Amino acid sequence: MSGLAVDIHHLSVRFGDFYAVNDISFSVNAGEVFGFLGANGAGKTTTIRVLCGLLRPSAGEGSVAGVNLDAGEMAIKARVGYMSQKFTLYNDLTVEENLSFIAGLRKINPQEYATRRDSILEFIEFDRPLTSLVRDLPGGIKQQVSLAAAILHDPDIVFLDEPTAGVTPAARVRFWALIRQLADRGKTLFVTTHYMDEAEQCDRIALMRAGQIIALDTPAALKRHVFPDELLELEPIKQFRYADVEKVRRHPDVVFFEPYGMRYHVALSETPGAEKLRKELAASYRIRTITPTLEDVFIRSVEGEER
Ligand SMILES: Nc1ncnc2c1ncn2[C@@H]1O[C@H](COP(=O)(O)OP(=O)(O)O)[C@@H](O)[C@H]1O
Ligand SMILES: [Mg+2]
Repeated sequence: MSGLAVDIHHLSVRFGDFYAVNDISFSVNAGEVFGFLGANGAGKTTTIRVLCGLLRPSAGEGSVAGVNLDAGEMAIKARVGYMSQKFTLYNDLTVEENLSFIAGLRKINPQEYATRRDSILEFIEFDRPLTSLVRDLPGGIKQQVSLAAAILHDPDIVFLDEPTAGVTPAARVRFWALIRQLADRGKTLFVTTHYMDEAEQCDRIALMRAGQIIALDTPAALKRHVFPDELLELEPIKQFRYADVEKVRRHPDVVFFEPYGMRYHVALSETPGAEKLRKELAASYRIRTITPTLEDVFIRSVEGEER
């Protein structure tokens, strides 16, 4: 296999007249944790379904784990793991029954199944009886068992579609430790998330909007590119007055404005007017220069184009 886990050229998926994925090209390196970010409806799941061999693209070509997308569903499925956005384990079956059912679908022989099951459950540190009903597991553990199911056949690439949606913060941290460990073992992880702290942990991130990739880079590089100017954090010194804040937001020299709790992240244009505004602001706000968060990057690149 080349160094590329995913290599996609001009991929489109059309539903009727609507392009859910509109001419995207990108590649993912083997062993990379690759993040896919975008609002609901951006086209993330549709892209993943194509890459897992579940959906035929309307146009474009490429390969996944060295297998051409034309090779068909079975050839691709053998090399990729997929944890769908919807919970897909059977609630009414035990952990053991769920895993052995998947092993059957994957045609893993019984001895090999037992070995892999044990090592994967050890990997996720599953410490409950194998006879536990999935229904009775806490949400975070369910997600870990779903991950175990997705990697049972030892795929090169694992696609995780919003794997941590709706689980506790502690379970999210735990899940990301597992993602990192898989990457350290040479697996490629392709993850979608709405959590910026998770995106921060990816090696590279693609930002998707309306079926297109509008930015793709490391978190640090995205911050530099999207905020070539200085980003300021304004903390009100005086009592909060809505009218004052609105005046700043609408000021012609304000090129970025986003509230963060009681503070504001603000970027100014590089004009004499902005210099003057900054001095005025200093009377009402404590001002410091900050590194943008990925939230800032996301807001500016996804919403900024619509301003
Ligand atoms: N089978 C389908 N038929 C018609 N439209 C679809 C189908 N699947 C997805 N879409 C539409 O494609 C767009 C992208 O959906 P999706 O890939 O699920 O986005 P995301 O995962 O980023 O939220 C949405 O507008 C969705 O309604
Ligand atoms: Mg989705």
